[in-house]
Amino acid sequence: MVNVAILGFGTVGSGVAEVLTGHESSIAQKADGLVKLKYILDVREFPESPFADRFVKDFSVIESDPEVDIVVETIGGATVALDFTRRALAAGKSVVTSNKELVATHGYELTQLAREKGVCYLFEASVGGGIPIIRPLSQCLAANEILEIYGILNGTTNYILTRMIKAGLSFEQALAEAQEKGYAERDPSADVEGHDACRKICILSAIAFGRHIYPEQVPTQGITGVTLADVDYAEGAGKKIKLLGRAIKMPDGAVCAYVAPHLIDVSHPLAGVDDVFNGISVRGDAIGDVMFYGRGAGKLPTASAVVADVMDIARNLGHRKALCWAPGGPDAACGTGQLASRWYVRADARAEALRSALGEVKLLARPGAPAEEAACLTEGEFTQAQLEEKLSGVEVRCALRVLN
Ligand code: HSE
Repeated sequence: MVNVAILGFGTVGSGVAEVLTGHESSIAQKADGLVKLKYILDVREFPESPFADRFVKDFSVIESDPEVDIVVETIGGATVALDFTRRALAAGKSVVTSNKELVATHGYELTQLAREKGVCYLFEASVGGGIPIIRPLSQCLAANEILEIYGILNGTTNYILTRMIKAGLSFEQALAEAQEKGYAERDPSADVEGHDACRKICILSAIAFGRHIYPEQVPTQGITGVTLADVDYAEGAGKKIKLLGRAIKMPDGAVCAYVAPHLIDVSHPLAGVDDVFNGISVRGDAIGDVMFYGRGAGKLPTASAVVADVMDIARNLGHRKALCWAPGGPDAACGTGQLASRWYVRADARAEALRSALGEVKLLARPGAPAEEAACLTEGEFTQAQLEEKLSGVEVRCALRVLN
């Protein structure tokens, strides 16, 4: 029998408890033995919970119980969760988490600690919620040289952009709706400013390219600057605006990782990834393009990925599953300085001003555009610095990369 302790009884933790106990016999069959939920750690009281007898408030109860094999950390953040994860691994327990902030900031240290202790640190649920991506990337695609990963990694912002595109809501209206539906937090900044997607692309980069990339090395732009005017111009060009996390292996080996809204063609598979869904595209030298699609957040989808990690460890207890990479450093990531793209530009300017600044462009139109506004797609590819230099005399309101 394998015993599990869950840290944090929030949305994900309670989902894990529900799935673990609700599917007990099929999990036992697939994991070659019973997987029992022994403890739940939370500072709050849950007297009405069906798991009321399993709650503890003191982490040392779990840490010092030799019967606990696997700790599921669903506390979130990188303070208490970091302390408990270190202590659980040091005590010889495997740890499973959905905590992308912790993996993105301390993943190298924690995977090393797991390796030293001969246990596992698994985090399938930290990227893409219920979508299998960490295991496919690290195992099924392992024979490939990964060239690029990009995708819609945040469900909340995808919902907001979808509502702006399909219902004509403003950013503020769409955000309020996302909050009403429980997708966006009361403080939505981690989602709308791109930090959540940034953490996820850091984790994917580490798995795909083999070195830790820290969030502060990843230029990150959210969707707060995207307006209905931009949505309309994009539509007129046969494109949609999507927030993408992107990581590209550059010829010198460094990784160009960043998060930004992009214009993507309506025929691109990611253009059909709407609402709170996520879609992740991986390009390998042998396989070409592979795409992963599904529910990137939510109680049961996330619990599905967490419990699968628990089962994987239970099935292979005593055999460490290595998920690790080399340390990061200033040379691991190179920013976006070298990355040339076509661009979408909206400016308070005449069309002629855009044309003379940018050379060949495709001018765009939208209903109700003021006379002093112009927008275009560049035909040429420019780095951000080149674009800014060319547009130095122009009142630019929005500039977004166009995905090739
Ligand atoms: N806030 C995240 C999202 C939750 O909207 O995608 C899953 O990481």
